[in-house]
Amino acid sequence: MSYDLIVIGAGPGGYVCAIRAAQLGLKVACVEGRETLGGTCLNVGCIPSKALLHATHQLHEAEHHFEAMGLMGCKPKVDWAKMLGYKADVIGQNTKGIEFLFKKNKVDWIKGWASIPAPGKVQVGDTTYEAGKIVIASGSESSPLDGVEVDEKVIVTSTGALELGKIPKKLVVIGAGVIGLEMGSVFARLGAEVTVVEYLDRIIPGNDGEVAKTFQRLLAKQGMSFILGAAVQSASATKTKAKVTYKSRKDDSAHVLEADCVLLATGRRPFVDGLGLDALGVGMTKRGQIATDAQYKTSVDGVYAIGDAIEGPMLAHKAEDEGMAVAEILAGQAGHVNYGVIPGVIYTWPEVASVGETEESLKEAGRAYKVGKFSFMGNGRAKANFAGDGFVKILADKATDRILGAHIIGPYAGDLIHEICVAMEFGAAAEDLARTCHAHPTYSEAVREAALACGDGAIHA
Ligand code: NAI
Repeated sequence: MSYDLIVIGAGPGGYVCAIRAAQLGLKVACVEGRETLGGTCLNVGCIPSKALLHATHQLHEAEHHFEAMGLMGCKPKVDWAKMLGYKADVIGQNTKGIEFLFKKNKVDWIKGWASIPAPGKVQVGDTTYEAGKIVIASGSESSPLDGVEVDEKVIVTSTGALELGKIPKKLVVIGAGVIGLEMGSVFARLGAEVTVVEYLDRIIPGNDGEVAKTFQRLLAKQGMSFILGAAVQSASATKTKAKVTYKSRKDDSAHVLEADCVLLATGRRPFVDGLGLDALGVGMTKRGQIATDAQYKTSVDGVYAIGDAIEGPMLAHKAEDEGMAVAEILAGQAGHVNYGVIPGVIYTWPEVASVGETEESLKEAGRAYKVGKFSFMGNGRAKANFAGDGFVKILADKATDRILGAHIIGPYAGDLIHEICVAMEFGAAAEDLARTCHAHPTYSEAVREAALACGDGAIHA
């Protein structure tokens, strides 16, 4: 019952940490209380939402573009129960995949919920395990909002939204962040009347403002409506209906919306319940995250923390990178995460992807920069595929041409962003991207054209 390392939580942070540590020669166990491995991401987050986004995108394509391409009589009917079955299959394949990887790498899965009664000890049920080192990767949960009574049936978080008994006719989404817009898109494509209520005067705060404006326009074209500058006060449900009240921030006027279903998507918070961190004396930040140093050490010797439970963006891939880095550090190597190059992606259609600085953050820092922008309307492949909406924007240092950030709204933006991430990791200039031959016809050419636009100009603009 003794391990070099016990990881608490088998989400993308925890399972990656456990596998990497085992690969580096440590004897590793990972504690997970869910029935299946993979955490929020694989079970009730990234993966199931992507399955529903994929299915409903196919529906949207069939409804809107098939006839134009000469594909007649292909209007699919939606079988929601079957779609949920497809989603469940996708989850199963992924969670079983992690189980296989644990076996392959000799990581023991300790089933149950862990606490840390003392440094070097992990308790699960009645058993206490000895651990040379402990990594907490316990993830996050939806933040509650005062006045909003979540029942996961009529008033739901993302977890309930992935399991709705039927497709709502009217859906109110609270919060125009990533979850609200991804899940809002799913139900809008399935025919729901979707209204997004957002506190700020813009959607997707933190993202490039120009991208946000274009994104809102394109989502509105797809039938979603937006009420901005609106502070939600309450949401309550009868058995089948819901009522949402909000106040306009401009004039304090009160409003009521009715719906069949309400999705609360106003952010997530670290999940550390039951770990016994208080008694152990683990230091926390003001925002309720586990405080760590640059090596992911907490204030208690031998206890480390990563992922959504600590500071930084709540993203699966950020957690994975930290999991790998801390495993390397514990194995005596030099693990490191470059927080300046962590992409963020919204998996709607079109997709939105960003990395590094925004124009807003550069202006705030008083840095001189230039902008290279290219519209997908000028990209032959995008035109052929009904994917001309959106653009690539690259921000580069005005004097040195070094790439500082990039923002893409368009087809497969979440894949396109990565060549820019690699370029940034290598400290590349926009000219380096511009001089790299890009295959024709590909969406990637739009990235090259934006890089060209940082210099002497794009060709197809
Ligand atoms: P978020 O932080 O992205 O957005 C929350 C939105 O709710 C904000 O725009 C905020 O201004 C608004 N809001 C807050 N209080 C409000 C109120 N009283 N009335 C109206 N609006 C209000 O949070 P979200 O979408 O819940 O996502 C949680 C976390 O999960 C994020 O960190 C996100 O990055 C992550 N996530 C990432 C995904 C991805 O990478 N594709 C997918 C899903 C989640």
